[in-house]
Amino acid sequence: MSDNISDRIGKLIGIGVGPGEPKYLTIEAITALKEAARVVAPCANNLEVGRAEATVLRAIEEGYLPERSIDRVIIPMDGSSSHAYRDAAQNIAMSLKEGQNVALITLGDPHLYSTFTSFSNEIKKMIPSLLIETVPGIMAFQALASRFSLVLSDQEEALYLVTAHNSKTKLLEALDTANTSVVIYKGGREFPSIIDELKKRNRLKEAVAGEKLGIEGEFLGSAAAFEGRDVGYLATMIVPPIREENKEES
Ligand SMILES: C[S@@+](CC[C@H](N)C(=O)[O-])C[C@H]1O[C@@H](n2cnc3c(N)ncnc32)[C@H](O)[C@@H]1O
Repeated sequence: MSDNISDRIGKLIGIGVGPGEPKYLTIEAITALKEAARVVAPCANNLEVGRAEATVLRAIEEGYLPERSIDRVIIPMDGSSSHAYRDAAQNIAMSLKEGQNVALITLGDPHLYSTFTSFSNEIKKMIPSLLIETVPGIMAFQALASRFSLVLSDQEEALYLVTAHNSKTKLLEALDTANTSVVIYKGGREFPSIIDELKKRNRLKEAVAGEKLGIEGEFLGSAAAFEGRDVGYLATMIVPPIREENKEES
């Protein structure tokens, strides 16, 4: 019988909980949340309920998931402190070394601009033989497209997903590419200048946006409805391709 230490190490499971609405939790996510020995939620500080934790707590409240404990680890969302990352990773590595399966919950999907990526890398440095699994989650832009019954891409159309918080180079390239749907993440604070760029390209009318989807304070509408609004980080915009039917209307 093997008594290799790696046989006793628990699995790290990244669970995508969707953008905030508990009904978007998948059956696989619910099962993984029930089965994990420990569920860990990232938070900015110990007193604050993180977005992913809030989603799971609502799922418990609304009866989708039985009562269970959730531990918080402090992970600065801007990735600023490597020290904090290490402390949080060490905390989880201890449980994994004791053979516990640990689930780390994350907003949307764990493979798209997620704390799970840098965090699992940090733990992997501590436990190189670590087995990592992920449970996909509904991404914010999928939820937004669905709320508007908006076709993201069809036939020859492409789909670009860009961020707009540091530089807008990629965004402008995407907006200037024909036959392309553009999804904009991390652009809430940049909405005024993005709206100006859409106006220049005659692409404002069809664009839609959502702030805090599925979360208290949700605001949804055409991108034009966001003009003059103070928009935060948790906002997504979709600019659909220029389509024949829209050209005729305008
Ligand atoms: C760190 S990324 C997380 C992306 C996430 N992993 C996903 O799969 O959608 C944060 C960005 O995702 C988008 N986002 C995530 N949740 C959202 C929500 N509830 N409402 C609007 N946008 C959201 C925003 O563009 C935000 O700036």
